[in-house]
Amino acid sequence: MKILIVDDEEMQRDMLQGFLEKQGHVVLSAGSGEDALAIFDSAAIDLALLDQKMGGMSGDELLFLMKKKNPLVRAIMITAYASVDTAVKVMRLGADDFLEKPVDLRLLLDKIEAIAAQLAVEEDAGEIAAFLEEQELPFQVIGESPAMKELLSLVRRMARTPWTVLIRGETGTGKELVGRLLHSLSPRQAKPFIELNCAAVPENLFESELFGHEKGAFTGADARRKGRFELAQGGTLFLDEVGELPLNLQAKLLRALQESRISRVGSEQDIEVDVRVVAATNRDLKMMVEKGEFREDLFYRLNVLELEVPPLRRRKEDIPALVDFFLGKYAAKSTTMSREALDALVKYPFPGNIRELEHLIQRVVALARSSKIMAADLPREIRLSQVANGEGDLGARLNEVEREMIVEALKQHDWVQTRAADALGISERVLRYKMGKHQIKKG
Ligand SMILES: Nc1ncnc2c1ncn2[C@@H]1O[C@H](COP(=O)(O)OP(=O)(O)OP(=O)(O)O)[C@@H](O)[C@H]1O
Ligand SMILES: [Mg+2]
Repeated sequence: MKILIVDDEEMQRDMLQGFLEKQGHVVLSAGSGEDALAIFDSAAIDLALLDQKMGGMSGDELLFLMKKKNPLVRAIMITAYASVDTAVKVMRLGADDFLEKPVDLRLLLDKIEAIAAQLAVEEDAGEIAAFLEEQELPFQVIGESPAMKELLSLVRRMARTPWTVLIRGETGTGKELVGRLLHSLSPRQAKPFIELNCAAVPENLFESELFGHEKGAFTGADARRKGRFELAQGGTLFLDEVGELPLNLQAKLLRALQESRISRVGSEQDIEVDVRVVAATNRDLKMMVEKGEFREDLFYRLNVLELEVPPLRRRKEDIPALVDFFLGKYAAKSTTMSREALDALVKYPFPGNIRELEHLIQRVVALARSSKIMAADLPREIRLSQVANGEGDLGARLNEVEREMIVEALKQHDWVQTRAADALGISERVLRYKMGKHQIKKG
């Protein structure tokens, strides 16, 4: 295993390092949290041994930041004295185990062995779980992270209902995949799944795309044509990027949803449709409603049920399985990823989410020099992202802390802003600004 020791006492560090190296481990060490993070960014660490109490950044804080970069890392916290309280606290932070000072080396070895065994078992268990999922779901969906498991369980339940679902999520998170899943797991599965990307339709053709047209309805309409609603008869209509739907069509869509009737462009006749609508958006529709860019009544009609597909950076646990999945999809022969390369990928924030990861693997596979992909085969921006990424983490952490402090102060002062501002030592104006920034509202 590759082990990182972090302790501000040099003697302790050297002693542990010497001992673990003799056991055949690769050991790196750091005298402070800051140094540890720098090492963590550049090496694929399996296990971290952290001194809880250090000058500067504490072991707790360090663990929090490491887990944020790579939730798969294992950690043993070394504490001054152990108590139930410590144990609970340390576990909550995500440490796998803890040890009392002075460290009992036999015990340390046992714990390291236990972690190694767990790692091996989990690799197998992951494969078994993926297999079961594959059997149950109509196509393969990777999702072993808690965030994805929760989403999939919601999808299964929502699929059985007849209501419209609004899927929210950043670009490339898998909104369309979730839409297809809702259809494939629903009683409508044997009927069509029809997609319309609202961002890709020119405004003047929208109505015809949705509802169809009669021959001669407008110039260029030289034959009668069915719209997506009719094509989806009995099945599911997936309206992608629904926030791009022009306002005049929003009213027509609302009517179609409310009355289950449509009429083709150029026709007076109503056609009954039995279609379940699933819509997706990466925009904040609620905000668009407030700005008058999206009809409120349509919003509520679409948003009967809602699903949020989490960004990849909030389910980094899925990255290794997704990498395997895409390697299988794009690599001709069995290709694997080195630990260092995988480590760099797990640490990268993936602003383009799964789609970005998929394209990346496709590209890397095409250019790889051998069947083992090394960190050097990855694009520069991924190998180099880690420094900037680290700063981002600190910023995010500070933001969280700021938000918590403000909410706490407001609660303590019954949401009287003048008093909360006083307690925080900031002006009321700044408080209001920060409440806006963090979207803090009473209740
Ligand atoms: N959990 C998953 N397991 C396997 N593949 C996935 C998963 N989620 C997404 N993908 C794949 O990632 C790619 C992007 O997903 P999808 O098109 O559903 O995202 P999207 O949110 O609709 O993106 P956009 O906002 O860009 O339209 C697709 O090739 C999809 O098959
Ligand atoms: Mg999409």
